[in-house]
Amino acid sequence: MIRLDHVSWRRGRKDHAPVLSHLSFNVPQGGFRWLLGPSGAGKSSLLRLLHVETLPSAGRMEILGQAVGEQTKRAALVRLRQRIGMVHQDYRLMPDLSLADNVALPLRLQKRGEDEIQTEVEAILKWVGLGARMGVSAAHLSGGEQQRTAIARAIIHRPGLILADEPTNALEESQAHRLLDMFAQLSAMGTTVIVATHNETLIRRLARPALVLEAGKLVADEGHPPA
Ligand SMILES: Nc1ncnc2c1ncn2[C@@H]1O[C@H](COP(=O)(O)OP(=O)(O)O)[C@@H](O)[C@H]1O
Ligand SMILES: [Mg+2]
Repeated sequence: MIRLDHVSWRRGRKDHAPVLSHLSFNVPQGGFRWLLGPSGAGKSSLLRLLHVETLPSAGRMEILGQAVGEQTKRAALVRLRQRIGMVHQDYRLMPDLSLADNVALPLRLQKRGEDEIQTEVEAILKWVGLGARMGVSAAHLSGGEQQRTAIARAIIHRPGLILADEPTNALEESQAHRLLDMFAQLSAMGTTVIVATHNETLIRRLARPALVLEAGKLVADEGHPPA
């Protein structure tokens, strides 16, 4: 479950105008939401907030049932982040690690056994079509390969919440559709999924409620339309 109650976020000092203003919305566990809005509306900022990389400047926020704010201990934030899978718009892979080691990171943080990690990593890389590229350093991947690696890393530990920031813009259409089908399946099995996108074809393919941002404000919440 995600709950935001008048959440605002500003970068740095108080005299900066907030990037996100008074956002209030809920997404139930297993809910799927598109996150829409023009470039600069605040989609990436909101996803970073939901990923608890940044904290609200005001308002109340609950992620996966846990209240998050200034008072939340660092260790609790780290643990919470481990339950979230995030596909950043710029992928954020570790360039010095191989593709397989990048994807294995969430499982290593959970201290899973190396045999199990090996099996899981192979399976997921096969699924994203990168089975033959496992040992390649992340610095040598094409944009589409980096995006698929970032997707694999975000889902391998079966997080309760998946956040994806324009996760298909470097993918071919057939790959984008497969990814979308998988997100829909994960949501049907109880994973909450929020996907920021500009891809109209994708949105038409999967009819799900949208959260719409404009200039840092929530202008539509199709999951909870006004009465
Ligand atoms: N690193 C940054 N430094 C300064 N302003 C930024 C930075 N990143 C984003 N912004 C500003 O924050 C606002 C929201 O940006 P962002 O969350 O990236 O929107 P979106 O993902 O919808 O395009 C915009 O006004 C943008 O110009
Ligand atoms: Mg963005």
